[in-house]
Amino acid sequence: MASYSKGLEGVIAAETKMSYIDGEKGVLEYVGIPIGQLAEFSTFEETVFLLWNTRLPRKGELADFSAKIRALYELPAEIQAMIGQLPKDAQPMHVMRTLVSALGMYDAKPNATDVPTVREKALKILACAPAMLAYFHRHRQGKPFVKPDANMGFAENFLYMLNGAKPTAAMVKALDVCLVLHTDHGLNNSTFSARVVISTMSDIYSAITAAIGSLRGPLHGGANEGVMIMLNEIPTVEAAEKYVHDKLAKKDKIMGFGHRVYKAYDPRASHLKVLAKQLAHDTGNMALYEKSSRIEKVMSEAVAAKGIYPNVDFYSATTYHCIGLPLDLFTPMFVLSRIGGWSGHVIEQLSDNRLFRPDVDYKGPHGVAYTPMDQR
Ligand code: ACO
Repeated sequence: MASYSKGLEGVIAAETKMSYIDGEKGVLEYVGIPIGQLAEFSTFEETVFLLWNTRLPRKGELADFSAKIRALYELPAEIQAMIGQLPKDAQPMHVMRTLVSALGMYDAKPNATDVPTVREKALKILACAPAMLAYFHRHRQGKPFVKPDANMGFAENFLYMLNGAKPTAAMVKALDVCLVLHTDHGLNNSTFSARVVISTMSDIYSAITAAIGSLRGPLHGGANEGVMIMLNEIPTVEAAEKYVHDKLAKKDKIMGFGHRVYKAYDPRASHLKVLAKQLAHDTGNMALYEKSSRIEKVMSEAVAAKGIYPNVDFYSATTYHCIGLPLDLFTPMFVLSRIGGWSGHVIEQLSDNRLFRPDVDYKGPHGVAYTPMDQR
C-alpha cells in the first residue's frame, strides 16, 4: 500500500529544471541563479526567457523575445468587447480567470499540444494578461481603454495602460522586481494545478485558468490582499502588537507569514522588505512600512521558533500599495508574473508527460445493499 501524505506534504510529484528551493536555508534559485541576483540585474522578460529555455538569452535573443511579447500586447477585439460587458463590481481574479479562458476560444489551433505551438500560445497569454487587467480596471472606472505601447517593457506598459500616464522609472523598476520575484516557485499549489490539467493533454488556456483559480485562495496568492486588509485594520504602529497577539490567541493565521516549504526567511521577502522600505519612504507611506515591520517583530518573538517568517506576500502588499495599485489588483499582479512560471511548467510537463492520477485511500463502507426510496 502506498503511503499517504495529507496535502501531499513532502511528496515529489514532478521534476523541474526551473526553480530550486532550500526551505531550511531560505534559498531560491531560478535555473541555478540566486533570486537576489535576478532581482538586482535581470528583468521580467529576461527571467521568463531563462525559465522557458533554462539559460540566459544572448543580447539578440532577448531583443527578439521582448519584441515578440510586445507585438502581442493588444487583446483580440472580441475580448475587448467582452470586457465592456463585464459587471463593474466583478472581482479582478474572476475577471482574469474568465478572460484567459475566453482567449482560448480565439486560438486558431486550440488542440495543438506540440511544444513549439504551446510556447507561442504561452507567449500570447503572457503578453495579453496585462491588458485584460488594465482594461477591466478602466472599464469599472468608466474610463476609456489606454492602448498598449510596444515601445514599453512589460511592467511599464502595464502601469501605463492602467493609469493612462507614463510611470516613473522608479515605479517601473519596483514592479519589474516584483514580477521577477513572483515568477516561479517549485511545485506550489497553482503550478501543480496547471501541470495536472496539462497532463491530460488538455490545452494551456485550461491549465492557466485552473492555476488562476488556485492562486486566488487566501492560503496561496490571495494572502497579499489579506495582508493589506490587516494593515488597514490596524490603526497605528503601536496597535500592531495587541492585534497580532489577539489573533494568535484565537489561533488565527497572520496573513503573509508561514510557508509549507520555507522554515527560514523567504528570500523573496527579504528583497521585498528592502524595496517596500525604499518605496514607502519615497511615497510618504512610512507608517505602513513601520506597521509591517512591527508585526514582523511581534511575530518573530512569538512564533519564529516554529519556523514561521514573512513570506513573499507580506512585504509585497506594502510595495504594491506604494506603486499605487488598488487592493484588489494585488493578487492579479501575482497572476501577471506567475503566468511565466505556470507556462514554463506546462512546457516541461508536455516535454515528458505522464498523466497525473494518484490514488485515494477509501474510508467508506463496503457491500451496502441499495435501499429503495420509500424505505429510507
Ligand atoms: N500565522 C500564525 N500561525 C501560523 C501561520 C501564520 N501565518 N502559519 C502557520 N502557523 C502555525 C500554525 O498555526 C501551526 O501551528 P501549530 O503547529 O501550533 O498548530 C503551524 O504553524 C503549522 O501551520 P500549518 O498551517 O499546518 O502549515 P502549512 O504548511 O499547512 O501552512 C500556509 C502553510 C498555508 C502558507 C500557512 O503558513 C498559512 O496559512 N499562512 C497564512 C497565509 C499565507 O500567507 N499564505 C501565502 C503563502 S505564500 C504563497 O502561497 C504565495
